[in-house]
Amino acid sequence: MIIAANWKMNCLKKDADTLINELIKSDNLFKKSKVIIFPSYSLLTHVYSKIHSSNIKLGAQDCSLFDHGAFTGQVSVEMIIDAGCEYVILGHSERRVMCKETSEEVSKKLFKSFSLGLNTIICVGENLQDREDETYLSVLKNQIKLSLSNFDKFDFNSSNNKLIIAYEPIWAIGTGKVATEEKINEVHVFIKNFIKDHFKTKIDVPVIYGGSVNEDNSNDIFKIDNVDGVLVGGASLKPRTFLKIIKNST
Ligand code: 13P
Repeated sequence: MIIAANWKMNCLKKDADTLINELIKSDNLFKKSKVIIFPSYSLLTHVYSKIHSSNIKLGAQDCSLFDHGAFTGQVSVEMIIDAGCEYVILGHSERRVMCKETSEEVSKKLFKSFSLGLNTIICVGENLQDREDETYLSVLKNQIKLSLSNFDKFDFNSSNNKLIIAYEPIWAIGTGKVATEEKINEVHVFIKNFIKDHFKTKIDVPVIYGGSVNEDNSNDIFKIDNVDGVLVGGASLKPRTFLKIIKNST
């Protein structure tokens, strides 16, 4: 199972230390499940210095489309790797909605991250209107088709280039409304089949679920056949809760 912690724009060094110190005490748990922490850019090198000899992996919450130059405020893939990251999250709904990031941009960023050997989590998810209108599968299909439009150029034989899809329904993020087992399973099967059919590949891309995952519902989520892990927001900021989620996955 993949257990990814998206800290979003939370934590100062002291908070990161509290979280990491608690997690590291249970380092043996992380041999069974792959635990990846995604702090803010400002904390990457600090968190790396704490976890580099543990089994916890480090990732960034986004990256620039560009390699270097006059792009004030942006951070390149090379810089992220230099800070100790092995992973990056692309196309999170908060970036798609608040920063108007498009699937075309996500696709270009994915090409960059894969070119430099960064494992990448691509987020997709429908909003409440799409769900109520029952157009969610075509919305997801479009997001995946466009976000992975460079698929044929990716070198999946490189041991580093791992693609993970995170299904995060927007209506379930930070709302306490978790999708039902049926809804999660339906979408995960759909995503896996769509990638195989559309991109004519045999690659079985892991699909993880995100949206109000907590210590109480994670056990049932891990039991769903086509769930390969979870992407946790709020609950990853509480060490005991996050540890319980990791324990539930093993
Ligand atoms: P919550 O777990 O807080 O709902 O956030 C989910 C998420 O957006 C993870 O990327």
